[in-house]
Amino acid sequence: MPTESPFLLIGPFRQLLSLADLPDRGPISDGALRPLPEGGLLLRGEQIYRAGPFGELMKEARALAASVVELTDDFVALPGWVDAHTHLCFAGSRARDYALRNAGQTYLEIAQAGGGIWDSVQQTRQATQQELVELTIQRANRHLRNGVTTIEVKSGYGLSVAEELKQLRAIKAAGQQVAADLIGTCLAAHTLPRDYSGTPEAYLAEMAELLLPVLREEGLAHRVDAFLEQGAFSAEQIAPYFAEAHRLGFQLTVHADQFHPFGSRAAVAFGALSADHLEASGPAEIQMLARSSVVPVALPGASLGLGCAFAPARRLLDAGASLAIASDWNPGSAPMGDLLAQAAILGTFEKLTAAEVLAGITYRAAGALGCADRGRLQPGLLADFLLFPGRSYQEILYQQGQLKPAQVWKRGKCVHSSTRPA
Ligand code: NIG
Ligand code: FE
Repeated sequence: MPTESPFLLIGPFRQLLSLADLPDRGPISDGALRPLPEGGLLLRGEQIYRAGPFGELMKEARALAASVVELTDDFVALPGWVDAHTHLCFAGSRARDYALRNAGQTYLEIAQAGGGIWDSVQQTRQATQQELVELTIQRANRHLRNGVTTIEVKSGYGLSVAEELKQLRAIKAAGQQVAADLIGTCLAAHTLPRDYSGTPEAYLAEMAELLLPVLREEGLAHRVDAFLEQGAFSAEQIAPYFAEAHRLGFQLTVHADQFHPFGSRAAVAFGALSADHLEASGPAEIQMLARSSVVPVALPGASLGLGCAFAPARRLLDAGASLAIASDWNPGSAPMGDLLAQAAILGTFEKLTAAEVLAGITYRAAGALGCADRGRLQPGLLADFLLFPGRSYQEILYQQGQLKPAQVWKRGKCVHSSTRPA
């Protein structure tokens, strides 16, 4: 019996944006995007084998006995979106917080009064693990239809050993049932739970001793996050917890400078992969981040949900930093959960080029997750890509999230098509 060729050619695309030669850090002009007209992608299994002119790839495809998907409509192809920061595994709603904020209360005031994160902790604790699996699948699939092929998902609404495990097991189980890759992150250091009678130091020591080793054993997460903020944890409190997480081999990431500028310093000191939020970062923090290897992650969805300033994305890029853009999808500060719309809007307010925005939700976001295997369309990387209808990539950001991908390809397979069943 003839064996099926592992090769598949797809194209031609009116424009192919491989993002292959764009820089990892600093500003990028749109001229650097250099869309390839009439491009194609030759896949081998889950990976890109070659990206180039469709006509040339067709000759190679014939020699390799590749299957061919020849497109007749107009499409623009580019890498799948990477959402490097979400809390989309939660139960319940915080519509009440949203109304209170719009009536004049602040996020921190609502949290101090027992709303905020603690409210979502209680609602999430009430859900069964299976209910959390289903909610996570629903939201991950909505993200996938919008083009997000890699999704980081944090815990942090459990805040006890058992409840954090429930959340992270739900994230892992959901990941096995969706096409997108889900990357779990432990956020047990989200805030001190109100039902914990000891000190913040004792809580973090307990999590380091009883939770983190289990995460390694069960393969539930290889990343640890902390919310460094007034009313959450201080840099001093987090130091021993991060040191232990680092010793156990976890990658570190920080919720930094959301309302007060102190978390980014800890992110740099601990060699974190990323520092996320940064709405309150000033010139000193911007310079410090730009001189470090930490990837700054802007979360415009939190600015839109809270009515706050955006992170200083333009100034970070001009200082020479990288910049990822993520949705922060969560029930409190960022309920919208539309990465493309938020990234496009950040671009208009912060004066980011299309290249900078697209880099921020593809390979620079992959960099924030330490995933070197995705985010660009080049040989050896994952065949995660999107086909948008039309003849120009400029339409994608211009329509601010309303133009949806016609096809979403994940690991070499079409997993969503708006025109025919996937
Ligand atoms: O990234 N700032 C802390 N954590 C989340 C919000 C979580 C919540 O309000 O439920 C954030 O914005
Ligand atoms: Fe967050």
